Amino acid sequence: MMLTPGLRFNEIGHLTIEGLDAVSLAKEYGTPLYVINEKLIRNNCKRYTSFISDNFKAGSFPCYASKALSCLEIYRVMKEENMGVDVVSGGELYTALKAGFPSERIFFHGNNKTPDELNMAVKNNVGRVIVDSLTELQTLNEIAIELNCKVKIGLRIKPGIEAHTHDYIKTGQIDSKFGFSIENGEALSAVKTALNCSNLELCQLHCHIGSQIFDTQPFADAVEVMLGFFAKIYSETGIWIKELNLGGGLGARYIDTDSPLEIEEYLTPVANALHEACQKMNIPEPVFHIEPGRSIVGEAGTTLYTVGNIKEIENVRTYVSVDGGMADNIRYALYKADYTVLNASRSSGNILNNATIAGKCCESGDLIQEGVDLIKPEVGDTLAVLTTGAYNYSMASNYNRSLKPAMIMVNDCTHRLIIKRETYDDVLKNDI
Ligand code: LLP
Repeated sequence: MMLTPGLRFNEIGHLTIEGLDAVSLAKEYGTPLYVINEKLIRNNCKRYTSFISDNFKAGSFPCYASKALSCLEIYRVMKEENMGVDVVSGGELYTALKAGFPSERIFFHGNNKTPDELNMAVKNNVGRVIVDSLTELQTLNEIAIELNCKVKIGLRIKPGIEAHTHDYIKTGQIDSKFGFSIENGEALSAVKTALNCSNLELCQLHCHIGSQIFDTQPFADAVEVMLGFFAKIYSETGIWIKELNLGGGLGARYIDTDSPLEIEEYLTPVANALHEACQKMNIPEPVFHIEPGRSIVGEAGTTLYTVGNIKEIENVRTYVSVDGGMADNIRYALYKADYTVLNASRSSGNILNNATIAGKCCESGDLIQEGVDLIKPEVGDTLAVLTTGAYNYSMASNYNRSLKPAMIMVNDCTHRLIIKRETYDDVLKNDI
C-alpha cells in the first residue's frame, strides 16, 4: 500500500498525517477536508532552492507554480522559503500580493492576459511578464509607455519538445495555444519585435514542456534546444538573453507504480545539460529559473471524506459514496487520473476489492476512482485520497452548489485552518 511522506497508521488503526489522527481531524473540521503537509512543502522548497543556488548562476531561483495550489498561506510559505512564484491570472496575482509576496519575484504568465491584468501587473511591478503573443507585446508596450516605465519581460517559446508521462515526441508542438514556435521562425521574429519595443526589456526566454513527467531526457533536450536558440538570437542580433526559464513538469507519486524522480535527480541532468551546452556552444551561462508546482505540493495533500453509503450491485460493482467528489477533485472525471484511496478508519479487516469511489454530484461520471482495493469501509468511516495537493483545490468548483471544502495545514503534530469551509451564503453572495 502506498503512503505519501508523513502518513502512517497508529496503534488504533487510524491513518495519521504528520502524527495527527486523520479520523479526529475529520471530526474536528468536518469533511471533505483538504489536509496539507506544510513540513513536506517547505522541505521540497528547500531542496529546490539549495540545489539551484549551488549549481546555477548567481541570481537563479525556483518559482513555485501557484496554479497548483493558490491561497494566501501558500504564498506566505513561499515567501519564507525564498521562492519566486509563477501566477497565471489576475486572481492569482491578487492573492500573492495580498499575502505580501514580493512583487519582483512574481512571474506573470498566461496566453491571453487581459489589458486589465497587464495593467495590474505593471502597476505592481511584477518581476517578469512572460509574454505569449504579438498582441500582448504591443499592448504591454503601450501600457508601459502610458505609465512611463520599463517592463521586464520573458517570451514563452515552444521548443518543439512535447513531453508526456512516459513518452515524448519531438514534432507537432506547433499546435499549442501557448507561445511562439522556434521551428517556423515566429519565435525569432517575436524576439526581434520585443527588442524593438521601446518600454520593454527582454530578459528571459521561457518554455514549459508538460506536466507529470518522470523522465529527465525531455528536460535536458529542452535546455539544449533553448540554448541553441539563445545562440541563434546572438548571431542575428548581437544580444545574449540573460535568463532561461524551463517551466515546470516534474511528476508526483499518485499510486504504487509511479516512480517520480527525486528533485535532485531531476535537476542534476538539467544542470549538466546547461553547463555542457554553454561550453559546447560558447554561450555565457544564463540565470536559471524553473516553475515546479505539482512536485512541491502534490504529495503534501490528502483529502479526507466521510462514507455516506455503500451500494453493492451484485455482479456489477460496489459503489462507496463519499461526501465530496468532482467539485473538490475533478481530476478523475477530467483525466482519468490515478489516485490511492485508503480507509483512514481501519488498518486491518476484510478487503473490499474493485470498489468505485463515487462523489455526491448529480452525474454518473462523478467518480474519485475506480478499481480500488481497500479495507472494507462502513458508513461513517473516513476515507483518505492521497496526493491531492496539486490541482485539486485550485480546480474546485461549486457544481451543484457544492461548498468548497476547508483546508488545514499540518506540521509536526500541529494543525491550523488556512481556508474556511464555504457556507451556503458564500455561494449565494454574488447572486442578485
Ligand atoms: N509553468 C507553466 C508555464 C505551466 O503551464 C505549468 C503547468 C507549470 C509551470 C507547473 O507545472 P507542474 O510542475 O505542476 O507540472 N491541471 C493539470 C495540470 C496542468 C498544468 C498546467 N501548467 C492536472 O491536474 O494535472
